[in-house]
Amino acid sequence: MRLSRYFLPVLKETPADAQIVSHRLMLRAGMIKQASAGIYSWLPLGYRVLRRIERIVHEEQQRAGHIPMLMPTLQSADLWRESGRYDAYGPEMLRFKDRQDREMLFGPTNEELITDIVRSNIGSYKQLPLTLYQIQWKFRDEMRPRFGVMRGREFLMKDGYNFDLTREDALHAYNRHLVTYLRTYERMGLQAIPMRADSGPIGGDDTHEFLVLAETGESEVFYDSAVTDISLGQRDIDYDDKAQCAAVMEEFTTLYARTDETHDETLFAEVPEDRRRSARGIEVGQIFYFGTKYSDALGATVQGPDGKSVPIHMGSHGIGVSRLLGAIIEASHDDRGIIWPEGVTPFHVGIVNLRQGDQSTDSACDGIYRQLESEGLTALYDDRDERAGAKFATMDLIGLPWRITVGPRGLSNGKVELTSRRTGTSEEMSPEAAIARLRDIYAAHP
Ligand SMILES: Nc1ncnc2c1ncn2[C@@H]1O[C@H](COP(=O)(O)OP(=O)(O)O)[C@@H](O)[C@H]1O
Ligand SMILES: [Mg+2]
Repeated sequence: MRLSRYFLPVLKETPADAQIVSHRLMLRAGMIKQASAGIYSWLPLGYRVLRRIERIVHEEQQRAGHIPMLMPTLQSADLWRESGRYDAYGPEMLRFKDRQDREMLFGPTNEELITDIVRSNIGSYKQLPLTLYQIQWKFRDEMRPRFGVMRGREFLMKDGYNFDLTREDALHAYNRHLVTYLRTYERMGLQAIPMRADSGPIGGDDTHEFLVLAETGESEVFYDSAVTDISLGQRDIDYDDKAQCAAVMEEFTTLYARTDETHDETLFAEVPEDRRRSARGIEVGQIFYFGTKYSDALGATVQGPDGKSVPIHMGSHGIGVSRLLGAIIEASHDDRGIIWPEGVTPFHVGIVNLRQGDQSTDSACDGIYRQLESEGLTALYDDRDERAGAKFATMDLIGLPWRITVGPRGLSNGKVELTSRRTGTSEEMSPEAAIARLRDIYAAHP
């Protein structure tokens, strides 16, 4: 993409109404624009990051055998009456009537719809286990939408639902989701710690939230600092291997880590004092096992091996896809702007031409740009007729992790500069070497 032809409405001024750094940076970098309270348009740069996050979520879900689908945003009130949640949900649910006077709502979550689909189409235990998921917009009429995409009213969520014959199988699905979530967040350059949480209106016994530690987080958390030393890394996971998934679950959830809702002072006191931490965190996901709560209410049963009809065991699992942009920026920025982790960056590399209009720098930039594209690396080429300082400031603000700088002085020696946004270190090398380096870096971040 050539910046002169792109739509990147960066703001010079810091928006006064944005209270936290991720919100300020998303506005300044021209990623989002508020449409009304808690509702945003995704401008091209923000949209690219959103799509990359979605892609990682899809890949990690499908790696575990979970099946993508799409349900509507608008739902009929009938199903929610059947489950008993129509009245229970309260004012966060946006309700309205269509022209036939039918009661409708904008889905805040989808347990009812998915359970209806499954009850109409699944009759035998032989069709289980099954995990279906979608990435779809949700609406919750939050009392206090704030912090930009972090607490919106309309927001993008991955919601997945597992259907199993037995409690044991459903708990495997729970463990399997925990592993997929750990891998998903790690690919985004984030550490998200699973913490025992409270199940709220969804109901059920087992639930963990995934929290990214950040001072601006809305949740209060308590944990043993040793949990921050564990990571999943590159290990091979067989998602059908119940023992292996259970072992990962145990490894990540045995040390003390709880949100304030489930915090227990007595248990916390058993953590060695120098490892006791209380902090704030951003909830980027949550997994639930709730047994037969919805299948009982909605009559979702299967015939078991003995021919008897039994309710299906279920769980639901959510990732805050749009919130993740805010969480990643909270975790990765400096006073000049965003620093995207390689896994989610909107473009792999920025190209800065220090002397636009000069024939040799222009043609060198064009060549690098084309070579990158032919290797599947996306570049944002700043080909505007601007001062070098302004170009650097824009690149730093929008946070591409790598920058190639092309100027007449370096070119006279056949060199360009490759700069890391994270460390600020620059290295001189040939354009070919810079491209090869980027190819290697991104091979680890497909
Ligand atoms: N108002 C919101 N704005 C942005 N993301 C949200 C919002 N509410 C929930 N999410 C994200 O969706 C994920 C799944 O939602 P869920 O756990 O059902 O929400 P909650 O914890 O608010 O009840 C949450 O972990 C969070 O990351
Ligand atoms: Mg939650």
